[in-house]
Amino acid sequence: MPLLEPGSPTDLIATTTAAFTERFGRPPRLVGWAPGRVNLIGEHTDYNRGLVLPVALPHATWVAVAPRADRQLRLSSAQQDALWTGTLDDLEPAAITGWAAYAAGVLWALREEGLEIPGLDLHVHSTVPLGAGLSSSAALECAVGVALVGLLGRSLEDTHDGVPLRDVLVRAGIRAETEVAGAPTGGMDQTVAVHARAGSALLIDFDDGARRHLDLDLEGRVLLVTDTRVSHELTDGGYAARRADCEAAASALGLDSLRRASLEDVEGLTDERVRRRARHIVTEIARVQRTVDALAQRAWSEVARCFLDSHTSMRDDFEISTDELDTAVSVAVEAGALAARMTGGGFGGSTVAIVPEERLSAVVRAIDAAFTQRSYAAPSHLVVQPGAGASVEAVDALGG
Ligand code: GLA
Repeated sequence: MPLLEPGSPTDLIATTTAAFTERFGRPPRLVGWAPGRVNLIGEHTDYNRGLVLPVALPHATWVAVAPRADRQLRLSSAQQDALWTGTLDDLEPAAITGWAAYAAGVLWALREEGLEIPGLDLHVHSTVPLGAGLSSSAALECAVGVALVGLLGRSLEDTHDGVPLRDVLVRAGIRAETEVAGAPTGGMDQTVAVHARAGSALLIDFDDGARRHLDLDLEGRVLLVTDTRVSHELTDGGYAARRADCEAAASALGLDSLRRASLEDVEGLTDERVRRRARHIVTEIARVQRTVDALAQRAWSEVARCFLDSHTSMRDDFEISTDELDTAVSVAVEAGALAARMTGGGFGGSTVAIVPEERLSAVVRAIDAAFTQRSYAAPSHLVVQPGAGASVEAVDALGG
């Protein structure tokens, strides 16, 4: 069964280091990395001050970096053709375009946070599938951020102006994404990329910022992520339109966010579309809490119900699903998955399913067959063991 493998960290560090050395003619000082993520439940709730439950993927983005004596910046990536070159003076949102918005954008945002950015050379290598709704952009932002922290000789456990550096990195990633790349996203992806712990899901409450690591014991079941290969873009308007509808709903109710709204409140909204958008948010936040409780109690049929209700709500009320996502979800369940739903921002991207180990190959085969039968692009599949959050590796220590 062909699965998209995350690769071994030792090999990936060696590959990224070798590519850096070839491109820039000297070895890097260190390698930073950060994971992609899959969200178990809680979609579009982050920017509504709600709850989310993501896990970090074992698939990550690796960033090799070395400082320069001058003010030059040279950014290259194994996944992108264009080398981005500039100087420290070019670190301004309007001057940074293309893929560099996420990399140089973070350097800009970290400078705004008061960190000293040196001239540098940087090379990126990623095993997070791009455009799959698995947060390749947050992985890149956070990998650049941790690499920079390492370059400055700081530890991720340090604080900066009294704020934990990990939280500074999360904020810088969000600013790069919203203010430089122009995707008005909510912060879930950067938070889990920086704070995840291996073996756990991360419950984040965007009302007060509280985070809780939850051991994820699926009792003989695995997480299967299926990338439908319908590329999703957070900058193409659909995401921003959903966010605007949620803000319109909150404002019509006289609330600062939909976190304060009840189902009864939103059912009274007069605009039909805004009412459906708000209903998704209010019911989705409740489903995250129900899923957390059900996971703790091993109440698997309740987990299954939450996933399916979540998918239906995204398909019908929030209108962010696609035929490919709907097919992957229904076929997975017919072939023996306990639960399945689309995950991430929507309009394409991936599904996540909880599958009994012994049904895994049958589920993968059934999805592949359904996609072939409907003439959809061939999907790719990842089996996810919840991974750890961003970190820095010294190249010397690894024999690079
Ligand atoms: C994208 C955004 C997140 C979140 C999800 C949907 O991944 O980056 O902030 O809104 O979509 O849950």
